[in-house]
Amino acid sequence: MDSRRALYVCLYRIFTIADVAYPTSKHFPSQAFFLVFSLLGSYPYFFFLRSTPSSSSSSDPSRRFLRNASWGGPAWEKRVRSSARVRSRNGITVLVTGAAGFVGTHVSAALKRRGDGVLGLDNFNDYYEPTLKRARQALLERSGVFVVEGDINDGALLRKLFDVVAFSHVMHLAAQAGVRYAMQNPSSYVHSNIAGLVNVLEVCKSANPQPSVVWASSSSVYGLNSKVPFSERDRTDQPASLYAATKKAGEEIAHTYNHIYGLSITGLRFFTVYGPWGRPDMAYFFFTKDILKGKSISIFEGPNHGTVARDFTYIDDIVKGCLASLDTAEKSTGSGGKKKGPAQLRVFNLGNTSPVPVTKLVSILERLLKVKANRVMLKMPRNGDVQFTHANITLAQRELGYKPSTDLQTGLKKFVRWYLSYYSSGKKSSG
Ligand SMILES: NC(=O)c1ccc[n+]([C@@H]2O[C@H](COP(=O)([O-])OP(=O)(O)OC[C@H]3O[C@@H](n4cnc5c(N)ncnc54)[C@H](O)[C@@H]3O)[C@@H](O)[C@H]2O)c1
Ligand SMILES: *[C@@H]1O[C@H](CO)[C@@H](O)[C@H](O)[C@H]1NC(C)=O
Ligand SMILES: *[C@@H]1O[C@H](CO)[C@@H](O)[C@H](O)[C@H]1NC(C)=O
Repeated sequence: MDSRRALYVCLYRIFTIADVAYPTSKHFPSQAFFLVFSLLGSYPYFFFLRSTPSSSSSSDPSRRFLRNASWGGPAWEKRVRSSARVRSRNGITVLVTGAAGFVGTHVSAALKRRGDGVLGLDNFNDYYEPTLKRARQALLERSGVFVVEGDINDGALLRKLFDVVAFSHVMHLAAQAGVRYAMQNPSSYVHSNIAGLVNVLEVCKSANPQPSVVWASSSSVYGLNSKVPFSERDRTDQPASLYAATKKAGEEIAHTYNHIYGLSITGLRFFTVYGPWGRPDMAYFFFTKDILKGKSISIFEGPNHGTVARDFTYIDDIVKGCLASLDTAEKSTGSGGKKKGPAQLRVFNLGNTSPVPVTKLVSILERLLKVKANRVMLKMPRNGDVQFTHANITLAQRELGYKPSTDLQTGLKKFVRWYLSYYSSGKKSSG
């Protein structure tokens, strides 16, 4: 027997075993290949894989039982259907991933308010205080939006959701956000922003009908670009962080799924979004917390005391841009997992077009909080942040009617009001 044949036999056996362990792998050949490589590389790892509950787990009931799934069953399906029920004429049905996140909560609530069907999905990970995500979930619950707890990498769960509801749109906001955290936990970026995105698009392309997809990219894709304002046609091949690189990869992956399967996809490059229910890992948020605690705050400056500035964009403006993207998205053209014709592929900047120096941000916060900040000026470390962001929003203005209307002073006032009321209850800790 020649060695090649032996290898085939060996591969065949491994595939057979892999299919038993991972019935979903027939839908995801890449998973099977991954398994093969990990098996060839290290046999004991195989047992590790088998005995570890997989997030992209199968529909096999015994395995589902083992991992104690929080989803499934008639009562659960009823909640899913009810949340996704359209209540206005010409309403759309949207699956919002990352719905317990900052932007996801606001977008879900806005869609629900105007009578669209909305179902949320979020894994409630602890990148920042999960109590804040639970509080947002409770808020959505009160307005009739059910947020399913699950991971975007769970193909069986996503397929189940599409079995129960024929979503016309997917608003994909789930991601590992944050620029500096990428040096601490790089694999979480690959898990959510690359593998997770691919899984979402895989399920979308196989769904009948295929939904239209709108998803969050980031202004960080402009990376080391020095030409301002940033226009969609500018180069985006010099990311300054792994976060930015995964968002850029996402834009290329979106191109592929649009090209091969006829998925209609719109990518939105958000510019530093802020507002009530915001993210505790962002500067405006932890500056507020530290100023109130009397702790010093670190303000970065560029080379030669250069100004660090951000095109801060208020959440309500971002929500309008998201809804306009959903409303102007054309239908996907594929069916049965096959492309039938060319489909829409778009990328838009959603910014505010007025960069504000971080020192100015701090001055506004001092005034609103009536507390003087203890400022420490530091040279900006080269760990992913860029010195300046400024959006050219001409394209979004033309195609989406996007017109941001909240300046930083007005928006921060609303944020501070929310912050003080949210954390004054005494029960919640700001971490
Ligand atoms: N806020 C900003 O300034 C900003 C700027 C540019 C881009 N973005 C992008 O916009 C989107 C929303 O950002 P945000 O500020 O609301 O962040 P967020 O962290 O508040 O929201 C993301 C949500 O996704 C969930 N999530 C993460 N990985 C998941 C997974 N694998 N499966 C299921 N759920 C998962 C998280 O639990 C979180 O609730 C993200 O894609 C982010 O990268 C945000
Ligand atoms: C299984 O799920 C139920 C309901 O969600 C929960 O109450 C229980 O603690 C879980 N059990 C384990 C072992 O995780
Ligand atoms: C902004 O972008 C548009 C294209 O969308 C371009 O025509 C215009 O020149 C850009 N403006 C600036 C100031 O770069």
